[in-house]
Amino acid sequence: MSITLNSPLDMHLHLRDEEMLQTVAPLSSSTFSGAIIMPNLVPPISTKEALDEYKNRIKMAIGEDTFTPYMTLFFKPTYTKEFLESMGDELIAIKLYPAGITTNSEGGVNGFEVEELRPTLTAMSELGIPLCIHGETNGFVMDREAEFVSIYEMLATNFPKLKIIMEHITTKESVEALDRFPNLYATITLHHLLITLDDVAGGMLQPHLFCKPIAKRPEDREALRKIALEGHPKVMFGSDSAPHPQHAKESCGCAAGVFTSPIAIQVLTELFMKHSNLQKLQAFVSDNAKRIYKNIKVPKKTIILEKKPFIVPQKYGTVVPMYAGEELAYSII
Ligand code: NCD
Ligand code: ZN
Repeated sequence: MSITLNSPLDMHLHLRDEEMLQTVAPLSSSTFSGAIIMPNLVPPISTKEALDEYKNRIKMAIGEDTFTPYMTLFFKPTYTKEFLESMGDELIAIKLYPAGITTNSEGGVNGFEVEELRPTLTAMSELGIPLCIHGETNGFVMDREAEFVSIYEMLATNFPKLKIIMEHITTKESVEALDRFPNLYATITLHHLLITLDDVAGGMLQPHLFCKPIAKRPEDREALRKIALEGHPKVMFGSDSAPHPQHAKESCGCAAGVFTSPIAIQVLTELFMKHSNLQKLQAFVSDNAKRIYKNIKVPKKTIILEKKPFIVPQKYGTVVPMYAGEELAYSII
């Protein structure tokens, strides 16, 4: 039996730059129709010029593939309506990082004072630009995301017309928040549907599974699986595939990020098959995102998978993927 997916989308992706971009971009563009491209380069993408140039470099790296990079800016509370208007259709979303919370986020937001954020968030509401948020406080690592829920609620209440996307949610608290506010949405990664903290640190430490937010408890994973597998209309697939060179992962001071783009669709297919929810996979990997992000144009692309072993390569360039060397049940043909 073959499985067909139409125009899969990755609504949270790190493509990096230079050599790394050349390695990883084709691994997404060969499979996905488009992806929301994270702006946390060094320096972060915060001008029209930087955004346009980065988009061009991505297009060069993917060659002939049918794939649209949906570009984002790194949130700053100083963005004016005029500035955002000047970005035109190229700007699809803005990504907000609390300062210092994850890779290359030093220039992020310090403190969430609603009046300080109001001008930019009001302009975004008026222009229909979604706000993507890395929702973690700087509290105890296992509690950071649950603690951030009150900030999501404050923002959702103060800016009811703003689409707020809780990025890479990992907790049952975030899942619960989703249904309390009409303007809250979420992305879920592949790895957070599969692993818990036990897989990262329960035995020998697994640097290639270390990421922000860190994987949580079995009951959190259950809550995520439930809404992903039912194709919950406010939830989208966002891999948060975040490549780092092997030496930066297998080191004293391991960089955060799991590299999943070459295996994501195959493993999602296996997960949805196992839970007899294959008919919902299309919603999770494409249809929901199209409905939520009204401002994206999605190129047509058909992906066919078959139950045929796929041995995950040990490395792509300098990057070790999740499940390196292991056999997956489904292949893209
Ligand atoms: C991401 C990265 O490496 O850029 N790392 C991660 O652990 N997910 C940043 C992010 O999305 O937090
Ligand atoms: Zn990310």
